[in-house]
Amino acid sequence: MKVGFIGCGGFVSGTHIPNAAQNDKLKVRAFCDLNAEILAALDSVYHPDYVTGDMKDIFLDPEIEMVVCGTKPDFRIPIMEMALKHGKHLFVEKPLCYDKDQIAPMVKMMRDAPIKFMVGFNRPYSPMMRDIKPLFKTLKKGSATILYRIIGEARLWPKHHYDAIIHNGESTIIHEVTHIFDILNWLTDSTPRRVFAAGEGNTDNVITLNYPDHITAVIIAGDNSSAGFPKEWLEINTGHSTIVGDNFVEMTAYQADLRLINKIYPYAIGNETFTDDGRTFTEECWKWRTSITAEEKEKGYYYERMPKVDKGHYHELEFFRKTIAENLPSETDVVKGAIAQMTAEIAVDSWKNGAPMDIDFSHLYE
Ligand SMILES: NC(=O)c1ccc[n+]([C@@H]2O[C@H](COP(=O)([O-])OP(=O)(O)OC[C@H]3O[C@@H](n4cnc5c(N)ncnc54)[C@H](O)[C@@H]3O)[C@@H](O)[C@H]2O)c1
Repeated sequence: MKVGFIGCGGFVSGTHIPNAAQNDKLKVRAFCDLNAEILAALDSVYHPDYVTGDMKDIFLDPEIEMVVCGTKPDFRIPIMEMALKHGKHLFVEKPLCYDKDQIAPMVKMMRDAPIKFMVGFNRPYSPMMRDIKPLFKTLKKGSATILYRIIGEARLWPKHHYDAIIHNGESTIIHEVTHIFDILNWLTDSTPRRVFAAGEGNTDNVITLNYPDHITAVIIAGDNSSAGFPKEWLEINTGHSTIVGDNFVEMTAYQADLRLINKIYPYAIGNETFTDDGRTFTEECWKWRTSITAEEKEKGYYYERMPKVDKGHYHELEFFRKTIAENLPSETDVVKGAIAQMTAEIAVDSWKNGAPMDIDFSHLYE
């Protein structure tokens, strides 16, 4: 299946393009970006059939079936309209948009569309989460509490991202915590009824969510941390069992019947793959953090040398290919994307109001 990429910035060139190039069922057909330097660099590495500065070339190309969109969220609707017009299946990065008034029109446009449409919430496709979900279903007895911690080091972000969050009032609740709303919805097969956010607003927040079936979740999302410490931690407590997901490298289930399950998931540094426990991975993170060069810091991207865990990016693109090839329903569809984003918008409102807020998603299904 031939793929065209529109918006080949830091994330898409560091993740989706190498993943597509590695997948022998996909062929990297073309790159489109407004930045000629990016196009020249990608051309020399991946040798696509062509590169272009005009996205119309991608949509008019009869050989392209799948389009991957990695522009910023303020430029999505025109791409969605063209994908519909030209019958191209479309994968768009998260979050869906910046302007919450665009959520409803996007849902209207894509919910029953004749093309496949997927939003880039990747965590459900990670091998660790694929193991945790059925375990949670089996072990759930009565109530459940879930802790999800996601931390970062803001001073290492690319400058445009740092300025957007720290100086221009954009919130990591929209940019990043949307991922966690999505994974919690997927793990619980439900959506939250109430949300309360406390903290600093743009970064460094604690968010609680009430789910049906006696499930309560808390998210700790901070960027005042060290990147030398693994970024994510999931802990589920239910029926006297505890399931721990340690940053996509190690899963341990301490079960009520006193049986222990432990599983390790490979991670990569450059082209090398490692299979170690969470503790060894932490040491690798610290080694990398203490060796960051001034040049890497200036660029704001560290994909070449930083320890990379399997958060499901490769599998989500392969899943989308399969969805198209076998005409399956899209899993992370526009409604799921909208629910994660609406939760984020309401969490921001809750933070502003200093009070919990009820959420109702029923209109998205009407
Ligand atoms: N899923 C994840 O884990 C993950 C991680 C990081 C970023 N992202 C998401 O990826 C998206 C891109 O983020 P980024 O940091 O790579 O941004 P970026 O600014 O580095 O890249 C965006 C690119 O889009 C190009 N572009 C803009 N308008 C265009 C147009 N009309 N035609 C063609 N190209 C155009 C820009 O030139 C730029 O190169 C964001 O939505 C972000 O939230 C997702």
